[in-house]
Amino acid sequence: MNICEMQEQILKLKKETNTAVLVHSYQAHEIVEIADYTGDSYKLSVDAANTDAENILFCGVHFMAETAKLLSPQKHVYISSPDAGCPMAEQMDAELISAVKAKEPDRTVVAYINTTARLKTVCDVCVTSSSALKIVKAIENQKILFIPDCNLGAWVKNQIPEKDIKLLTGGCPVHAAVSVKDVEKARAEHPEALLLVHPECRPEVTALADYAGSTSGIMNFARKSDKREFIIGTENSITEHLQYECPDKQFYPLAKNLICQNMKLTTLPDVYRTLLALSGDTSQKAYEIIMDDELIRNARKCIDEMIRLNG
Ligand code: 13P
Ligand code: SF4
Repeated sequence: MNICEMQEQILKLKKETNTAVLVHSYQAHEIVEIADYTGDSYKLSVDAANTDAENILFCGVHFMAETAKLLSPQKHVYISSPDAGCPMAEQMDAELISAVKAKEPDRTVVAYINTTARLKTVCDVCVTSSSALKIVKAIENQKILFIPDCNLGAWVKNQIPEKDIKLLTGGCPVHAAVSVKDVEKARAEHPEALLLVHPECRPEVTALADYAGSTSGIMNFARKSDKREFIIGTENSITEHLQYECPDKQFYPLAKNLICQNMKLTTLPDVYRTLLALSGDTSQKAYEIIMDDELIRNARKCIDEMIRLNG
């Protein structure tokens, strides 16, 4: 079966099985094409809460599918590729953060959404890269503990200097691997291009950018800009999606190794396999996200708080 035939089968099976497919923008083009909802992690959280479909199939990494389950506990939520985790989400656990909180109980704990459900149970409010600035500004408390990404945290801290924001050492290994040398090389090769980066990059890289923001922030900036060339400092699938969408503009990856191996574990055949399993084909397997009610209740609070504060 070729890619177009598989996509046609997927569209049929989605209807038959009443499944909404949620696809993070770091997924490959052929997966984005069959999505019901696509976007950054904030948008997908809201989409997961609002969809009427009985089943949700998540194409992304584990914490994103978990977030979908927290927001739609009555639905069956599946992940296309069960091994797709986010290394950042595993860097800190509830015990570590509880110990830090015990020493500094007056801080509001702000967790990047790239955390496990278990860790979310000891945090006060979640943020995503697109909502972090608004939410940290909206928190009444001046004293914040921001976990786990110290690069995103430094970007927030820099723009909200009036708050006392404590950071711990953690972050995305993919974005943190980008260096100032990569910026110098890309700028030398494409002197007319604007540099757009994700705030998970190191502060010295973000400081050199013309724009820093979430995956959807970067995409919207490039779409609206009247400039013609852009160096993209986030996962390389964003460079690819923008090139498909805006053929009259040129997009270059900031670094060839800006590839999230975990995001790339999901393939179109994984989506097809899951939908076949949901349609009753017992030779195929679907991987459901299962969490007990207490975990859901406790982990959900800080996501609800994120949605409330983001207005
Ligand atoms: P966004 O919130 O921008 O979608 O980022 C998610 C992520 O994992 C970035 O590496
Ligand atoms: Fe996690 Fe980084 Fe991959 Fe995003 S790009 S899912 S933060 S490892």
